[in-house]
Order: sequence, then C-alpha cells, then structure tokens
Amino acid sequence: MAMRAQLEGKGKGNGKGFPIRAVIGLFVALSVLAFFLSNNTFFRSSEQVYQQTINPPNAKRPDRQTSNLQHSKTQPIPITLSCESPTATVCERRSTPMPTPHLTTSYNSPSCPEYFRWIHDDLRHWKSTGITREMIENAHEYATFRLVVLDGRVYVQEYYGKFMTRNVFSLWGILQLVNRYPGRVPDLDLMFNCMDQPAVKSFEYNSSTPPPVFHYCNNDKTWDILFPDWSFWGWPEINIKPWASLLKEMKEANEEMKWIDREPYAFWRGNPHMGGNRFDLLKCNVTNEHDWNARIYAQDWKQEEKQGFRHSDLARQCDNRYRIYVDGLAWSVSQKYIMACNSPTLFLDTPWIEFFQRGLVPGHHYWPIRGNNKCRAIKVAVDFGNGHHAEAQAMGKASSDFFQEEVKMDFVYDYMLHLLTEYAKLLRFKPSVPENATELCLESIACRAPTNVKKFLLESMEKTTHEAEPCSLPPPFTTEELQQMQERKANAAKEVAVLEEEANKF
Ligand SMILES: *[C@@H]1O[C@H](CO)[C@@H](O)[C@H](O)[C@H]1NC(C)=O
Ligand SMILES: *[C@@H]1O[C@H](CO)[C@@H](O)[C@H](O)[C@H]1NC(C)=O
Ligand SMILES: *[C@@H]1O[C@H](CO)[C@@H](O)[C@H](O)[C@H]1NC(C)=O
Repeated sequence: MAMRAQLEGKGKGNGKGFPIRAVIGLFVALSVLAFFLSNNTFFRSSEQVYQQTINPPNAKRPDRQTSNLQHSKTQPIPITLSCESPTATVCERRSTPMPTPHLTTSYNSPSCPEYFRWIHDDLRHWKSTGITREMIENAHEYATFRLVVLDGRVYVQEYYGKFMTRNVFSLWGILQLVNRYPGRVPDLDLMFNCMDQPAVKSFEYNSSTPPPVFHYCNNDKTWDILFPDWSFWGWPEINIKPWASLLKEMKEANEEMKWIDREPYAFWRGNPHMGGNRFDLLKCNVTNEHDWNARIYAQDWKQEEKQGFRHSDLARQCDNRYRIYVDGLAWSVSQKYIMACNSPTLFLDTPWIEFFQRGLVPGHHYWPIRGNNKCRAIKVAVDFGNGHHAEAQAMGKASSDFFQEEVKMDFVYDYMLHLLTEYAKLLRFKPSVPENATELCLESIACRAPTNVKKFLLESMEKTTHEAEPCSLPPPFTTEELQQMQERKANAAKEVAVLEEEANKF
C-alpha cells in the first residue's frame, strides 16, 4: 500500500531494541459487533464515587499567563491562513500571542472526563526527579521529532520520517492547540515518537529515570507518555477525514440506520496483514460448514484507493448490529470509528492502549472477548445480544455517547493542553530553541502540502480562538479507585465467561 511503501525503511535502526516497525499498522478496520451487559450496578456505584472526587475546591488551574483581567465575555479571534504571498511558507509573524484575558479568573469550569486523571499517572516517573534538558536529549534516539514551544511559538527539529503524514498531522494538531488557546501552552521542550510502537521499555529502567517520550500508545511494559494520534486531524492516504467531521457524519448515519434494522451479525473490515490477531480473526468468518455470526472482510487499500474509497466510508459501516475490534501491530486507529457506531463492540483483548482507552469500561462500553476460543466467544456475544435487544442497544449507545461526548475535539484539545501543562511543570530548565530547529506555523505546513493533504489540514484547522476555559483537570486516582477499576474489569470478564460456559452446554 502506498503508505506502507512510503514508510518502509524509515525505521530507526538504532540497534537498541527499539522495535519500531515502520508500518502503518493501525489501519482502520471497520468492524463490528456487539453487545451488552450494561446496567451493572457495580459499575454504576463506582462511577458515582469518582464523581465525588472530581473538582475539588483547590483544583489547580494552569496559571502562567497571568492577566487578572476580569473577563467580560471575550469574542473569539479569527485565525486565518493565507498562502498568497510568495514568502508565505516562512513564519514571519507576530509578536507574542495575546493571552486569553480571563485565564485565572474562573475556577468553576466543568470537570474533564475521568480518563484525564491518567495524565498524572503517565507523568509519575518524573515526579520526584523533574525533567532535565539532559534527560530530553538522551531521549533523542527514540524520537522522530523534537518540539519546543517558546512564548507561544512552535519550533520543531525533525529527525526522520519527515514526510510521513503522521508527523505532519501530529505537528499540525499541536499547532492548532497553540492557536486555539493563545498564550496558554507553556514553554516546553519534548521528544515525540511517531512510529507504531512505543519506545521506552520499562525493564531497561529498573533503577533509573526513563527518558520522557511522547507517543500514541503504550502497554504495561512501556512508559511512553500517551498523546492523541494524528488521525484526529485526518489521514489522507486512506481517506480518513478529520475526527470532528466524521463524528458528525457518524451521528447522522447512526440516526438513519436504526439498530434493530441492522444485520444481526458481528462485522469487521480491515487489513488482515497487521499482526496475528487479525489473521486469527479470519477463521471466524462464515463458511459453508459453520457460522459464528461473524462477517469478516479484508480491505485492500490499494484497490480502495483506485476506486475512490467507495467501500471504506466510515460513516457507512455501521449497518451490522455488532462490530469487532481487533488490534494491529499496536493500537489501531480504527477503534474510535468502530466504537462510535451505536452497535456494541466485541472487543478482542489487547495489551495496547491509547489515551482515551482508560475511560472505557468493559461490560458497559464494550463486550470483552478473551481466551483462545474467539470464534465461539463472538457467537455467544451475538446470540446474547440478539436475544436481549435492550441491553445490546444500551451498550452500543454507551460507547457511541462516550466518543461523541467525551472524546470530541474539544476534549482532545483539553487533554493535550492539560498534559503539556503538567509536563511543563516538571521541566527543570528554561527551554530554548534547539540548534537546527525551524519554526512551525500554519503557512509552513499547509501552503506547500499536496492537494489531498491540504484538504484535511484546512478542514481540521481551528478557525477561531477558543474563548471558554478548558475543563478542569481532576486529581490522580487513589489506590482504592485503581483497585475498583481492576475489579470492575475482572467482573465483566467473569460475567462473559459464565455466558460462554452456559452456551457450551448446548
Ligand atoms: C530489570 O529487571 C528485570 C526483572 O527483574 C530483569 O530481567 C532485567 O534484566 C532488569 N534490567 C536491567 C537493565 O537491569
Ligand atoms: C467472509 O465470508 C464472506 C461470505 O462468504 C465473503 O464474502 C468474504 O470475502 C469472506 N472474508 C474473507 C476475509 O475471506
Ligand atoms: C545541526 O546541523 C548540522 C549540519 O547538518 C550538524 O552538523 C549538527 O550536528 C546539527 N546539530 C544538532 C544539535 O543536531
């Protein structure tokens, strides 16, 4: 596939076991399936517990830009991009951005979604030591770029993979954040890894402080700091639109296609050549001999591209009652599209998580599929849902609502802002522009971009400053809360296991 070709050979080869496979793994699968288990009172009550701990009166506000101006309702300031001048790709502008005038005056913005609390956890390794310039420079070998924000201006030094759209769209996303909240993103210096797999292996840092590296996913053996992936701003090679546009389209499509009128199967479509789990899943497809209630399709992206992406419109892939999610070589960007379908997701167990993942509750937002007999587990899930419509629809709605409400772009930006603010508090030095870095601005990224890339850049560009306060960051989880979450997970798995066992009797 085009994207593959583009990425191949861009791996770092640093020989230190950084298994970066330049693969774009993650593809969008589309998939499907289903069902339920909602209304679990256990889940409910622990959610209530969390609610009470949010928003403590002393919640700390980011307070760098200090103006104490009382704010009368400020008008959003338009953000414009012009590629007309011949020097348009040079970032010549502006003085320091105007700080939003009411930053420190409001302590009562609504709390951010629960999953924001993991920000504290992701940064825990540097809590006592802080982050020095040396630590950042030592993280060089894991990074595709280094990014510095200084007085509201953004500088980047790209190490490799310069033309991968994931680099471009990740940088674009950060730039949108800076423009959206003028004067609000603190001075900082960070290393970012744009590859598929996380880089910072915990076993290499048993007794030393790990290098701080930002990345899109991690697992329990890696310590990369989670950051939203590029697909929120678009993925032109496979025609995935910016998330804001897609969410809206999906909402409309979901309303048109009632759950009850959907095909009563579990659907998955994607690139099967992305890891063993996907390959295994192919075995669950319907054949003349058996029907596990799964409908599995292989996506050939090359073919799709030729046909103008007619069969991969994500907003139109919600016509089955259940979706299947399966990871790729690491996390899969497909997850959010699959789970926003209003159809319950049969979620094949995965070690990989992305930033929002930690807000999803098994048994409430999705049906966990574990163990070796996945085809049978899928069949049990579909049969159950088809016999319990209310539960199935409640689960489909819970996950759609989660993405529509808690992972909408406003919160994606707020997550980035809070994460970067907390990160910057740990810095033990004053950032400066690295030797070979260049300044980034809208013009320098967008003006010379190829047409298909430019289209998504413009579509995902923030058109005005955001004048409301960001949500307020809730405190870290307590040990007790973490334990409750573990129990919740175990309980959901147990409930599913019981159903599977019962089904086995027949
Ligand atoms: C860290 O600990 C693990 C398990 O105890 C061990 O296998 C590994 O070699 C250690 N790594 C280092 C760098 O000491
Ligand atoms: C799964 O089965 C359907 C129906 O027979 C078929 O159209 C489809 O191509 C199969 N999928 C794969 C990946 O072979
Ligand atoms: C900056 O670029 C020059 C020339 O390519 C190179 O020699 C130097 O090592 C670079 N410095 C840094 C800090 O990367």
